[in-house]
Amino acid sequence: MRVALAADHGGFRLKEEIISFLKENNIPFHDFGTHSEEAVDYPDFALKVAEAVASGQFQRGIICCGTGIGVAIAANKVPGVRAALCHDTFSARASREHNDANVLTMGQRVIGPGLAREIVRVWLSAEFAGGRHARRVAKIAEIEKKYSRCGGKPGEGAPAPACRGEGNGRA
Ligand code: RB5
Repeated sequence: MRVALAADHGGFRLKEEIISFLKENNIPFHDFGTHSEEAVDYPDFALKVAEAVASGQFQRGIICCGTGIGVAIAANKVPGVRAALCHDTFSARASREHNDANVLTMGQRVIGPGLAREIVRVWLSAEFAGGRHARRVAKIAEIEKKYSRCGGKPGEGAPAPACRGEGNGRA
């Protein structure tokens, strides 16, 4: 499993903590930035991870900002991405088992590094339960199709790989 990571300035320190955790546990990752606490725009960094995951290049993504909210909203605009904002381990596990979340978001101004590490540990090790949950996740993909270019009229733009059922997207 390869993890795509990113943060804005508000989540930079939390991202560095997660990098330490991934290194300690020999989990391969790529850091898409940002690389300092200088102010940047969170959608730019959420998009890098969202596209890396939707393309199938990375199996999971983790994005941090001040609250975890902005990056979750932005990442969820990319077809094939199921980003979950989790600040507790119960939600982190459920987001994998029930929602097949492929992106985790967290807020540096909300939780401490110890809890964030534990959330990442639980989230990376939990598996999608399938069964009735697969039917529901498929319905999310249907909504996505209905409102995205890939479900739209021909000529409106090239479908993203995730929309064609490739990569991590569920067709
Ligand atoms: C940046 O100040 C802050 O708005 C951002 O990190 C995030 O919390 C947005 O949702």
